[in-house]
Amino acid sequence: MCGIVGYIGNNDSKEILLKGLEKLEYRGYDSAGIAVLNEAGVHLFKEKGRIADLRTIVDEKVTATVGIGHTRWATHGKPSKVNAHPHQSASERFTIVHNGVIENYEQLKAEYLEHVTLKSDTDTEIIVQLVEKFVNDGYGVQEAFQQTLKALKGSYALALLDRENSDVIYVAKNKSPLLIGLGDSFNVVASDAMAMLQVTKEFLELMDQEMVLVTRDDVKIFNLDGKLIERMPFIAELDASDIEKGTYPHYMLKEIDEQPFVIRKIVQEYQNDNGELVIDPTIVEALNEADRLYIIACGTSYHAGMIGKNLIERLAKIPTEVHVSSEFSYNMPLLSEKPLFIFISQSGETADSRAVLVQVKEMGHQALTITNVPGSTLSREADYTLLLHAGPEIAVASTKAYTAQVAVLSILAEVTARSKGLALDVDLPHELGIVASAMEELCDARDEFEQIASDYLAFARNSFFIGRGLDYAVCLEGALKLKEISYIQAEGFAGGELKHGPIALIEEGTPVFALATQENVNLPIRGNVKEVAARGANTCIFSMKGREMDGDRFILPEVHELLTPLISVVPMQFIAYYAALHRGCDVDKPRNLAKSVTVE
Ligand code: G6P
Repeated sequence: MCGIVGYIGNNDSKEILLKGLEKLEYRGYDSAGIAVLNEAGVHLFKEKGRIADLRTIVDEKVTATVGIGHTRWATHGKPSKVNAHPHQSASERFTIVHNGVIENYEQLKAEYLEHVTLKSDTDTEIIVQLVEKFVNDGYGVQEAFQQTLKALKGSYALALLDRENSDVIYVAKNKSPLLIGLGDSFNVVASDAMAMLQVTKEFLELMDQEMVLVTRDDVKIFNLDGKLIERMPFIAELDASDIEKGTYPHYMLKEIDEQPFVIRKIVQEYQNDNGELVIDPTIVEALNEADRLYIIACGTSYHAGMIGKNLIERLAKIPTEVHVSSEFSYNMPLLSEKPLFIFISQSGETADSRAVLVQVKEMGHQALTITNVPGSTLSREADYTLLLHAGPEIAVASTKAYTAQVAVLSILAEVTARSKGLALDVDLPHELGIVASAMEELCDARDEFEQIASDYLAFARNSFFIGRGLDYAVCLEGALKLKEISYIQAEGFAGGELKHGPIALIEEGTPVFALATQENVNLPIRGNVKEVAARGANTCIFSMKGREMDGDRFILPEVHELLTPLISVVPMQFIAYYAALHRGCDVDKPRNLAKSVTVE
């Protein structure tokens, strides 16, 4: 969701900004723009659509050593050239890019900007107009910027250029992610490190309500009272090659294929020299001391949380609830006496989850974040973190982060169970090794899944995924994958629930995918398949070795029953991928979606 870049140095900034924006494309966006500043003034280029479209309008002849850029995911005002960032003040002296939502923008407009004609429908324009208003009132630019920030309510990561001073980029952050990258005679600004790995690996973290003056040779961080803050830089442990597609046509395909490697890597990362799985004892203690766990997450991470609940309850015997973040924050259920919160988030930046984290921390509760991004907001603000070690996930539709979440949750459940002396019938490192090999087998069977996508979904308008128990959670994820990237309506249902309503939607030829990997519900789910088949559904059953029956379309390799979600999701991912591909959809960057959803 909205990405920001900025560069100030001695080289031409255009290409650095455009390349940086390309690296942020994965976050999801609908328009993009850059503004560069030289002796002749500000040169503004913005366009609805992709960075490739923006490239066509950037004037090659303009050179400038300072600039800012933005990818926009519309919140206030529809996706359009006018609403694309950067935005400018009335006199065009100030130019801004912004990520976040200004909650009091209507109020600020009424209070301060009554006589200013706004050019766009965005909340962002208010910020840049406000800076100019304060400058017109007699403030210096830095003070005007500071005054503006103090007036804003909501979330922002922003970068501002002043036409009258090409030696500084004014930067600020509150709730939305932003980093400063450090270089030799240049500095950069970026929503995440990936955008600027092209020029530096050294970054400065920014905290909420901080304001920064970025010049060619210096970075000064202030709080909103103007107090200077010292901060040590960190080195981003990312390899530029981790974020390249290589020979793959799409990131999603690469990331599906990386799953066996990720599972093995997770086992390695969490194993001690004796081959036992280990987790920081303070985390295990926190779980053991809690009388109830509350898993909080959105989207795919929520689906991983559903499986986590099952694993934790079955192995570690701790009552666990799973909640969608956006619901929990406004409708908090009655909490137990000693809750522990577990936030699951690939990006570690999801605003809905962060809102809950802030609330529960205020209430004095402990929190653990399970994330792929070290140093992300949810990781910094929780008491404990467990990392996914999945490597950067670029495709909007999450694949390897999901399986990594499930794997890490299984380890958390196992280690906690062992710490309580509970008898376990699973040798987890060994079983996860079997999972990794099974995933490889499934990746090798991709042609079969392409065939299934073509047989069942070529002309489909809608589709259903049914399962029971752990399979039900995977069905929700399978349906989400398909709808996200192919735009075929897809719904996951608990097999037994189908006859209580959804079955009314079954028509001749409606595709119904069923998962049958769980021994205890093998017969009931097959009964549910028969019910829809009798009404004309085109059914496709995925079962598992040892539970197969005549007519099953695909038999998954056998893995430990608790770990089936790790492998049954793989065919779902491939089917979604090929269905989207056959329909000519933009697999990695589906319409309307963002990878890192930093607004509520
Ligand atoms: C967005 C993404 C989803 C993701 C969800 C939660 O909606 O498009 O793929 O599952 O956010 O993201 P998180 O980073 O918190 O796991």
